[in-house]
Amino acid sequence: MANPSGEVKVLVVCLGNICRSPMGEAVLQHIANQRGLDVAVDSAGTAGYHVGEEPDERTVATCKKHGVPINSYARQVATSDFTKFTHILASDENNLRHLESIKPANATASVRLWGSYLDGKPIPDPYYGRASGFENVYHQCVSLSNAFLDEVIGKEGS
Ligand code: 4NP
Repeated sequence: MANPSGEVKVLVVCLGNICRSPMGEAVLQHIANQRGLDVAVDSAGTAGYHVGEEPDERTVATCKKHGVPINSYARQVATSDFTKFTHILASDENNLRHLESIKPANATASVRLWGSYLDGKPIPDPYYGRASGFENVYHQCVSLSNAFLDEVIGKEGS
C-alpha cells in the first residue's frame, strides 16, 4: 500500500495555479473540515508563469462570497509531489497529460482527472472569461470535493 498511515494528502493541479486549483484547494479543504475528515490539501500549476503570486482576484472574491477561506501562493508541480501526495487531481485533460509526462517511476500518488470521481468532465479554464465562469468553477469544485471524499474516504467518514 502506497500510504500505510491512511493519511489522505491531495494536490489539486491546473495550469497557472491562480484560478482553478487554488479554488479547488480551498473548497476541498473547507468541505473536508466541515465533514470532520483529516485531509491535507495543497495546489500547484503545471506551468510556472505565476509562481509566487496570490490567487486571481476573481477566485478570491468567489471564495469570499461563499465563506471559503483562501490563502495560497502559486507554485509549479515538483517531482517530489508524486511521492509526497496520495492523490493528484488534474483540472482538465491537458494538465493530466502534462502530469503523466513528468510522473517519475517511483510515483506513489494516484494521478487522475478530478472529474473522473463524478462525471468525467474537466473544469474549464475561466482565466480569459467572465466572472460567471468563476462561479461555475466554484460549484463544480463543491460537487467534485464531495464526490472525491465519498469515494476515497467513504460517505460515513474515516
Ligand atoms: P488556472 O488559469 O490554470 O486555472 O490558474 C490560468 C491562469 C493563467 C493563465 C492561464 C490559465 N495564463 O495563461 O497566464
